[in-house]
Amino acid sequence: MNNTRTDDLPVIERSDFAADFRWGCSTSSYQIEGGTDQDGRGESIWDRFCASPGRIRDGSSGAVACDHYHRWPADLDLARSLGTNAYRFSIAWPRIFADGRGKSPNQKGLDFYSRLVDGMLERGLEPWATLYHWDLPQALQDDGGWANRDTVSAFVEYSDTVSRHLGDRIKHWITHNEPWCTAFHGNFEGVHAPGLKDFKTALQVSHHVLLSHGLAIPVIRRNVVSARVGAALSLHPLHAASDSADDAAAMRRHDGLRNRWFLDPLHGRGYPADVWALVGNNAPVVQDGDLSVIATPTDFLGINYYFPEIVADAPGKGVMSTRIIEAKNVERTDFGWEVSPEGMVTLLTRVAKDYQPAEIYLTENGSTYDDVIGQDGQIDDVQRRRYLVRHLAAAREIVRLGIPVKGYFAWSLLDNFEWAEGYIRRFGLTHVDFHTQQRRVKASGKWYRSFLRGDVT
Ligand code: FCB
Repeated sequence: MNNTRTDDLPVIERSDFAADFRWGCSTSSYQIEGGTDQDGRGESIWDRFCASPGRIRDGSSGAVACDHYHRWPADLDLARSLGTNAYRFSIAWPRIFADGRGKSPNQKGLDFYSRLVDGMLERGLEPWATLYHWDLPQALQDDGGWANRDTVSAFVEYSDTVSRHLGDRIKHWITHNEPWCTAFHGNFEGVHAPGLKDFKTALQVSHHVLLSHGLAIPVIRRNVVSARVGAALSLHPLHAASDSADDAAAMRRHDGLRNRWFLDPLHGRGYPADVWALVGNNAPVVQDGDLSVIATPTDFLGINYYFPEIVADAPGKGVMSTRIIEAKNVERTDFGWEVSPEGMVTLLTRVAKDYQPAEIYLTENGSTYDDVIGQDGQIDDVQRRRYLVRHLAAAREIVRLGIPVKGYFAWSLLDNFEWAEGYIRRFGLTHVDFHTQQRRVKASGKWYRSFLRGDVT
């Protein structure tokens, strides 16, 4: 690709970062694998959710997705060809225990991930495994899902099985991806599986997810020599809509549920008292000892960063009496998400100051645009390339501020099944034709490759 600078983008080089900085792409099982009925995989809540009319914008599902279950060697070749040195993926719980738990795991499911991990290592990709990226076994949901405390022990057993079988090769473990989304998209807003709309349930889910994280950590450490364990949170930098005291208070409330509800207990502070008071009778049931389990020290904090939010006071609106304001005249992705590399700097500065995690990894960051395949078959996704360059420049600024960010994982390696949006949203550095399964590296992916090769871009 021609790297001649024709625009206002910052100049950025791989050598601006430490030699051991992790450079990767992120994916997740349900979004790419397909093969949902293969080799003894059980039903997940996303299979069930997608089968219910009206849930997914284009009426699709992850039944085939990128067919990664069969095409994984070529996909790992692709990740390697980009020059990445790490790869974040997730394990589908229903491939390991079709019904969520049981005496013996599904060997074929374990074998799949074993081959996948070997494939990564053969290609010089350090495996970063996420244990829960939203595909809960449906059988557990039938018993109440994450709102039922028994799901916590099922998760710990599943984590034990997977880490015992794969822990000789996987050192980096992410217990949960975005607990906020699991709890609130899935159980309060109803836009993700299992599609419930109950605030109290969502809060109980958040507690059980956090508890399962804390309980899984020592189990993983017992099974894996020199394991490194953390969680990946979706966090947002926030601004108040005005200078008024009301908007400032609204922002604080929103921050309470969006960010602090997860960050505080993970860092030994329990649930934020202001939010606890606001949620009243909806507060989750917390047993003695739970909070210290949740605060089990981790090795790193994963942050998925996408966009900032502007918050205004809105008396009576929603549980928190807040409203999100659309910023005017800002650049947005096709999802409507504001493009703000500065926001990433603000967010990590705040997290580092308030919580002092030993290490931070940007476990997801990326953008969606309508890609056009040119006459020559190339995809010149200028906006996504600009997004990537600008966010890597922001990552460099974060490093220069002395914040211990140690890696960056682009979302995503491939266009894939974007949850409630189906295949409408393309986040890949590689284009996927979902009819032919042809992969084509986009200009953004080619830029990432030349950056990782050490070119001055
Ligand atoms: C995150 C999810 C990931 C993907 C991106 C766009 O919230 O973790 O699976 O859908 O958003």
